[in-house]
Amino acid sequence: MKYKYFLSGLFIFLFSGLSGFSQSKVTLHADEGKTTINKNIYGHFAEHLGHCIYDGFYVGENSTIPNSNGVRTDIIEALKKLKVANLRWPGGCFADTYQWKDGIGPKNKRPSMINRWWGGVTEDNSFGTHDFLDMCEKIGAQPYLAANVGSGTVQNLIDWVQYVNYPSQSSPMSKLRTANGREKPWNVRIWGVGNEAWGCGGNMKPEYYANIYKQYATFMTDWNNKDSMWRVASGANSSDYNWTEVLMRDIPLNMLEGVALHHYSVTDWNAKGPSIDFDENQYFNTLSVALKMEELVTRHSTIMDKYDPNKKVALVVDEWGGWYNVEAGTNPGFLYQQNTMRDAMIAGVTLNIFNNHCERVRMANLAQTVNVLQAVILTDKEKMILTPTYHVMEMYNVHQDATMLPVAVKSSDYVMGNRKLPAVSASASRDKQGLTHISLVNIDASKTQTIEIDLQGASYNGAITGRILTSAKMQDHNTFEKPETIKPAVFKNFKKTSNLLSVTLPPFSVVVLEMK
Ligand code: AHR
Repeated sequence: MKYKYFLSGLFIFLFSGLSGFSQSKVTLHADEGKTTINKNIYGHFAEHLGHCIYDGFYVGENSTIPNSNGVRTDIIEALKKLKVANLRWPGGCFADTYQWKDGIGPKNKRPSMINRWWGGVTEDNSFGTHDFLDMCEKIGAQPYLAANVGSGTVQNLIDWVQYVNYPSQSSPMSKLRTANGREKPWNVRIWGVGNEAWGCGGNMKPEYYANIYKQYATFMTDWNNKDSMWRVASGANSSDYNWTEVLMRDIPLNMLEGVALHHYSVTDWNAKGPSIDFDENQYFNTLSVALKMEELVTRHSTIMDKYDPNKKVALVVDEWGGWYNVEAGTNPGFLYQQNTMRDAMIAGVTLNIFNNHCERVRMANLAQTVNVLQAVILTDKEKMILTPTYHVMEMYNVHQDATMLPVAVKSSDYVMGNRKLPAVSASASRDKQGLTHISLVNIDASKTQTIEIDLQGASYNGAITGRILTSAKMQDHNTFEKPETIKPAVFKNFKKTSNLLSVTLPPFSVVVLEMK
């Protein structure tokens, strides 16, 4: 008997090791859903950096490229389809240099400034507060304004809050807004209080920043907006757990709605590697840093639990994504990079982590939307393409505001020399129409995964449909010449028997299944 088990074990080992197949198991607890996946996890980020705003979102009213008040209509349409939940602006590092008053009023009278962090180029302020907030309305995204704390003043921030949120004629600032053509307030709810205060936001110690935060946060609210304001403290750099500890310890809970966290999938900041011509070793390294997000949100959440057991304060991962060398011939300060199936993998595993941690992670922002870092859109003059990352975010938008269903994943290993990573990642939710969605990722570079999903706590007797994003090579990407090399396709490689669903995923692929 033992001999028989040994033989079958040996067969599985040899079969999965030598062939291109692997087995993983997922248990879906369909009756244990209790937490909503906040749609704000599906947020994006638009900084005055390179060609994100200028020659990206914004081409100006006089452009021959179709636009609405200077914003490209093709981008607006693509982002509407993406269901961008919120959009962070104007930075990033740029935010702590930004003088918002320079970006209002007649465009030809707006002062210029030097964009000191990003290429030293001249910022003419032609895209300002009205342009951004009107654009958010068109996209249907909630605006997230990042305030200047590093080089700003409390009074400037008070003025900005009043300018965008106070009823017309109720304050000098809202009168100015009305004079500038907008009577109705925008009612901006989400505000970042500085950015990377430990670095480009002022090189502060956490204790010092906590005090500054309280000073700014105090004057952002008043009796009218006390409960609607959502203030996000500038958070930790990756695993700087002390930063979160000090903020949570020193800032009273009634002054804080969110604590940020930034984590980029970079293995070596001095040698980030190419965005397209990477090898499997670089692919593995990038994915290992992306998967570290699991440990980061777990450990930052544990610290937050100590001070905030009722989870009043959200963990806001307002910068995440892959960061590589800029494309040859482009301005190093503009952070322009291509986007391959590797980026689709980063997006898939990261969003699964956020979904599964939705009790504490209630907002996140991919860096950045157009032409910068892990962009969902790239533009070249009148041309616009959607990246693999766009498609993953679009496939996953079914999870927005749905109830998270816990999943337990027993993954086979993706092995590289003596290192290994879990090959499979998953998350699931049930939406308001009663549809269950499971998102699955296989990051293995060469092995197909057969995933057996045990559907517990619900019977799914209706039709099951699926979509897949994959390609022949992990370096594959969309170009302006071939914009549809990578796009979602119908997926049928699954079979259901009783409450077991067997799904077969090719190497480096993302699948979203829908079940009734
Ligand atoms: O996203 C690019 C930059 O990365 C942001 O401006 C900054 O916050 C971070 O260091």
